[in-house]
Amino acid sequence: MSQAITNAAIEITSGRLVMRPVGPEHRDGFVAGLNDWDVAKNLSRPPFPYAVSDFEAFQTMHAERLHDGGHLAFAIENRGSETIGCISLHRGEDAVFDLGYWIAKPHWGRGFATEAGDTLLRWFQTLHPLGRIKASHFEDNDKSGRVLSKLGFVYTGETFLLTCVARHALVRSRAMIRAPSWEEQP
Ligand SMILES: CC(C)(COP(=O)(O)OP(=O)(O)OC[C@H]1O[C@@H](n2cnc3c(N)ncnc32)[C@H](O)[C@@H]1OP(=O)(O)O)[C@@H](O)C(=O)NCCC(=O)NCCS
Repeated sequence: MSQAITNAAIEITSGRLVMRPVGPEHRDGFVAGLNDWDVAKNLSRPPFPYAVSDFEAFQTMHAERLHDGGHLAFAIENRGSETIGCISLHRGEDAVFDLGYWIAKPHWGRGFATEAGDTLLRWFQTLHPLGRIKASHFEDNDKSGRVLSKLGFVYTGETFLLTCVARHALVRSRAMIRAPSWEEQP
């Protein structure tokens, strides 16, 4: 059994972080965080450089799709209410959700991506206990592979070409999958 996710007032908290649906108040944090080549080159969709209008288009699309539960994008804030990144679950045509995330560079290396991912996945699976979640990372981004492994994802062995708008290129990517209740499996 799964529930629809329609509440734009959702707030998901962890020890150091608060995650809320992306809104206009997150604009400056997104523009600052994504106007960094080291972030943009590892993501599929954001253009580089990243303009205010790019954020506005993303936020509008997100607000529309939050209604049908197909695209859940949360701004990650620290306890000082600073926007430090984004984490999202996007439902594909195969009904499997795809996990994506970024953390602004000044905040790297402190476990924030792992903490946000772990918290979001636990929240999501209370709503979709049998939901399957996939993820992928560019072949030259082992750091993200490490984050995904810590979150319980395993490599499927499949590689594929994924658009990277910032690089204006198709970049070989490694597919990963996370089974429901992976912690309970032998
Ligand atoms: C990938 C990213 C989200 C990681 O954020 P973070 O908050 O620094 O991640 P965490 O601190 O939770 O974990 C990073 C892990 O990667 C490890 N790591 C760091 N550099 C690494 C490297 N070059 N290769 C492999 N692992 C690496 C760290 O040691 C840590 O693992 P550990 O806890 O076992 O020591 C961040 O660097 C980022 O936003 N990058 C650009 C966008 C991106 O890559 N998004 C993901 C797209 S698939």
